[in-house]
Order: sequence, then C-alpha cells, then structure tokens
Amino acid sequence: MMVSDVVVVGGGVVGLAAAWRSLERGHRVTVLDPRPGDGASRAAAGMLGAVSEFAFEEEALLALSLPAAERYAQVMADLERASGMATGYRRSSTLVVASGASDRAAGDQLRRRQEELGLSVRPLAPMQARRLEDLLSPGIAGAFLAESDHQVDPRRLVSAYLAALEGSARAVVRPATATALVWDGPRVCGVLIDGTERISAHEVVLATGASTRLGGLPTGLRLPIRPVYGDVLRLRAPASLTPFLSHVVRGRVQARAVYLVPRDDGEIVIGASEREDARTGVSAGAVLQLLRDAAELVPAVAELELVETIARARPGTPDNAPLLGRIAPGLIAATGTHRHGVLLSVETAVAVADLIDGRRARAEHAAFDPWRFSERTAARPVTASVRSRSQEES
Ligand code: GLY
Repeated sequence: MMVSDVVVVGGGVVGLAAAWRSLERGHRVTVLDPRPGDGASRAAAGMLGAVSEFAFEEEALLALSLPAAERYAQVMADLERASGMATGYRRSSTLVVASGASDRAAGDQLRRRQEELGLSVRPLAPMQARRLEDLLSPGIAGAFLAESDHQVDPRRLVSAYLAALEGSARAVVRPATATALVWDGPRVCGVLIDGTERISAHEVVLATGASTRLGGLPTGLRLPIRPVYGDVLRLRAPASLTPFLSHVVRGRVQARAVYLVPRDDGEIVIGASEREDARTGVSAGAVLQLLRDAAELVPAVAELELVETIARARPGTPDNAPLLGRIAPGLIAATGTHRHGVLLSVETAVAVADLIDGRRARAEHAAFDPWRFSERTAARPVTASVRSRSQEES
C-alpha cells in the first residue's frame, strides 16, 4: 500500500497547481489521472481574463479571480525556475471589442458595472483600438482595454507542472484512475485505484473537472457539475502577417462571444463555443460560427492556416462558481471552475494548501462552499476547520 500526505484526484491545471503548491509547502504528493492535462486544460486558450471575462451576477468570483491575476506572474516565475520550462505567460493585456451598435451598448453596460466594482477598464474609440491592433476591422463599433488581463499557454503550463512534480522525490504523477474514496470513521484516509490498489493519504483533493465520478462521496452531498463543451481552434499566421496581434482580443459579435489569443510562436487560438449537447466531438457548426465571428473582428483571420480543432468539457456549476473548500475531514473540493480554470488554478491551489495546513477557509470563499447545493438534512461531517473554530470559541 502506497502512502502520501496528499492525493490529488485529477491532473488538469487545477489539480496540478494544487499538487505543486502542496509540494512547495513540504508535503508528499501523488496526482492520479489516466491522462494528465488531457481534459479542459488541453483545449483552453489561457486567457487570464479576471476583468474582461467578468459577467453580471458573478461578483463572488472576483474574490478568486482578482488575486489569481495578481499572483500569476510570480507563480509562473517560480514554476519556470523549478521546471526549467517556459509556461508561455505573457503580459499582453486584453482588448475588448464590439462588432456592432447593440454589442457596443451591451459592452458599455458591462463596463459601467466593472467600473463600479473598481475594475480597471479603459474605453477606447474604434480608431484608438485600431492603432493598437492594425488588423482590426474598420467596422468595429467600440472597444476598451483591460490592461491587467494577460495570458498563459495552458499546454506549456501543464508540461511545466508535470516536470516540476516529476523532478521531485516527494511527488508522483500516476496515469491511473481513482475509483473510490476510502474512509476511516468520519475521515477520508485515501483512495482506491481501479477498485483494488489503495493509496493512503492525510488529505484527498478532488480536482476532477467535468468528470466527477468517484465512489464513496458523503451521503447527501450534491456536486452538480455539468459538462459545458467548448470548441477551440488553433491557427498559424504566415510570416507576412506576423505578429498577427499583440493583445488578446475578446469580442462580441451579435451577442456571441469570441476571442483570439496570439502566442509568441505565431499560434493564434480562437475560441470558444459553449455547448451543453453532450457531443464530445468538435462541432462543425461551432467551428463555422467561430471563424465567421473572428473574421468579422479581424478579417485577416481568413489568411491563417487552420492547424487544429478540439473540443473539451468545462466543469460548469448552477451558479457558475467553483466548488472549493472542505467536504469532510481529509477531503477537499477544487473543481467547478467552469470558464476560468486556468486563471483560478493558482488561487484555488493556495486555498487548498491552506486547508491542508489546517487554516480555516477564508470568509470571502463562503460562496464556493462545496455543500451549497446539498439538502440541509445531508449528513455533513464536522470539518477540521469547524472543529477548530468551535474549540477556539469554547
Ligand atoms: N475562458 C474562456 C472559455 O472558457 O472559453
């Protein structure tokens, strides 16, 4: 039987970030995933859009997304040093562009809310936006700049996390499937792999993304994760059009969202649809729409080489907020990050490591309580942090 301080179930960016942070805090870590990095992280464009991806009614998310955006540069510098690999983190800022008058009106409404919340957005006239990006269509109706929204390359990021973990004697990444939790009385004390082999752990972290299928979860606990499929395209610019864009461009075309993320190596990532049709393959209709909308904003998209199409499922929740926090003694949730997994990963990792180290959950994370969708009568175990709080009060 293997023993680890921390077992992370799920090797996408959220699980890998949590594993690496735990390793940095001195814990022995095991990551279990049949194909690490091959879920939503493989499709993700890597926009770090705390401001530009803010949506109405998602104010609670700012408690994670803003500190994550601030933390990113330092975490990437540390990870690049530890792994010896580049993560593709790039301070490229994000240009938010409206295609027509109704898109501009909707964008202005959102911008007013962003300004009320103290988010940094700079309105630009179409001409000013085109001075920043000369390939933008002359027809765009409005724009603003989210200067603090940058990008990372999720595929490089996953490789760097894996290299940093695999380079440590205290970490193991196993291409294996955790099938069930193992309990010792009220406490989770490990997992079963493929229904037979047991790994003991002081803490198990559930970072299973859209595929939360694990036996032995507490009775009555509802983790209502649903797969929200995204189709994403990878394209390449000819030398004559390089650099294609210097900012991330996030657009709105007849109320549909589209984004273009330019990488240093000439790759342009265009995304993403949001489908809940349970079709795992790439949707031809979505590819068609994404290319049309991207070309509406940047007509030279038609000159690019289409290199790859991919679809993956994001882990959506009913309120679009993550499931982050303690489920039971020995069991922590870090999933449900929906459209923001890459951005949120660095901050959810800190929250997970803090819980592992016995700190109580931060008050501003109450909105992410993994029990919030469960019946009040559910058998909610007394958690370590609740216990220590009541001990302090007594
Ligand atoms: N964060 C962008 C997306 O999920 O499409």
